[in-house]
Amino acid sequence: MSAVRTLSPPLAALLELTHRCPLQCPYCSNPLELERAKGELSTAEWMRVLDEASELGILQVHFSGGEPAVRRDLPDLVAHARKAGLYSNLITSGVTLDQPRLTKLAEAGLDHVQLSMQDVDHQTAAYIANYPGVQGKKLAFARAVREVGLPLTINAVINRHNITRVERMIDLAVSLGAGRVEVAHAQYYGWAIRNRAALMPTLAQVQEATGRVEAARERLRGQIVIDYVLPDYYARQPKACMGGWGRQFLNITPSGEVLPCHAAQTIPGLTFESVRHRPLADIWARSEAFETFRGTDWMPEPCRGCDQREVDWGGCRCQALAITGNAAATDPACALSSAHDALRALADTASSEPPPDFVYRRMSPQDSKAALATTTG
Ligand code: SF4
Ligand code: FES
Repeated sequence: MSAVRTLSPPLAALLELTHRCPLQCPYCSNPLELERAKGELSTAEWMRVLDEASELGILQVHFSGGEPAVRRDLPDLVAHARKAGLYSNLITSGVTLDQPRLTKLAEAGLDHVQLSMQDVDHQTAAYIANYPGVQGKKLAFARAVREVGLPLTINAVINRHNITRVERMIDLAVSLGAGRVEVAHAQYYGWAIRNRAALMPTLAQVQEATGRVEAARERLRGQIVIDYVLPDYYARQPKACMGGWGRQFLNITPSGEVLPCHAAQTIPGLTFESVRHRPLADIWARSEAFETFRGTDWMPEPCRGCDQREVDWGGCRCQALAITGNAAATDPACALSSAHDALRALADTASSEPPPDFVYRRMSPQDSKAALATTTG
């Protein structure tokens, strides 16, 4: 018989204000089918979502995208989040925000900025983002963040093109005055799985980088917090993806669909409900998509009888789907999964070949330029 579950409110919500973005990173977590500007929630709709999030008990919202700053109403949404008592974090590429707009966001009540970084090497950074001059713009933006007095986290996405410079990325974060750096290996969903061979480092490279991160942690103790998680393809234990399905987080897409994780739309058969048609609290508590993999009742063996089942919650459903074809399977990152060796073999094969060209993230070519135009939403 299944145990009675008590459902807590989510800790945080990731609000994907838009899928529009001037960068084209090949590891983007957005879906391959990007949403168009015309379908985005309006300013009033996002404000209602912020109110509903606060009423539900959510503490923190991440304004994300795409690039959230392409929405001109971002300061209004930040101000509304503050009014609703929500802590707000801006997850940005940093290339569209100048000092005056940043000051406006700080004045509106923004609490924190998280800046993605492709590399310390300017040429490779431009290659990864497919955006000439990207690194110079990011450095200027990071300095502006500190000048307006906002706390800064640097998010360095590690892949085979930049992995040898992991230590320099950490040192750069320190020199920019960041309080935290997230050294995050690319997660192979969305665009990243399409670019897996172009991104995957070798095991030897990962081990070398891990040693460098550990040494930096010792060296920089008290100066910066360094978050580091081993890449799933070389791990033996899975991560509690999203802190467990439907336990701590929710994502809202630009058009208002509420997802348990950013890649959930890849799972066939799940229906996602929209904040346009149902209150957020109802969706969180009762929607089929959240209930399907919530808790432990859905688990097959070996998860069902495993003492880690309420630690990692069976790992990642989207990765299980991508590798085994079954979203309800044990995450292949787990050494107990029957697909574990296959996952490792995929990584070894992908990383041993010369990297193919990137398939850059983009909307369909004909509308990508038009879609980038800044709108009020
Ligand atoms: Fe986690 Fe399942 Fe592996 Fe146990 S068998 S460690 S619950 S993924
Ligand atoms: Fe969907 Fe991990 S990304 S459960």
